[in-house]
Amino acid sequence: MAPEPLVSVAVLFVCLGNICRSPTAEGIFRAQVQAAGLSNRILVDSAGCYAYHEGESPDIRACAAALERGFDLSGQVGRQIKASDFGYFDYVLAMDRENLTYLQKMQPSDSHSRVGLFLDYADGREGQSVPDPYFGHSDGFALVIDLVESAGKGLLKQIGRNLPKITA
Ligand code: 4NP
Repeated sequence: MAPEPLVSVAVLFVCLGNICRSPTAEGIFRAQVQAAGLSNRILVDSAGCYAYHEGESPDIRACAAALERGFDLSGQVGRQIKASDFGYFDYVLAMDRENLTYLQKMQPSDSHSRVGLFLDYADGREGQSVPDPYFGHSDGFALVIDLVESAGKGLLKQIGRNLPKITA
């Protein structure tokens, strides 16, 4: 039997606490990758700029909103981004401009990660941030899902175009 091809691209989503936006992005993008049949080629993870919620499950409001749309965030565990992530992940994508500034300052000079805003991959939303829903209304979580679904589609299209061909 032919061996499974190795992961070709690794994507890390980053927000402030890693309990609302980036776990939602991780869960939705992983589902999009799976639907495209690329689970063994694209690795997906998420992290927070700060360690407030290290070891915690995603916010129950984020989980409920995602489940309503058919995405399961259970099983994810919050963690803080670390310098070595910039040596492993090809894409390190921030949910908002503050997160982006933090990541740009943190990126080691020898890292080749593409550090950018996730919504740069959403049609018509380039340069925009995913609003933080943590202190707001529950409809903020539905908006996060809409934005993340759109950006995920664009990101998957770009990665898919550039995936190295596997030759048996
Ligand atoms: P996230 O949302 O960055 O999307 O996970 C937040 C989660 C927690 C806090 C702020 C934002 N907090 O202040 O604890």
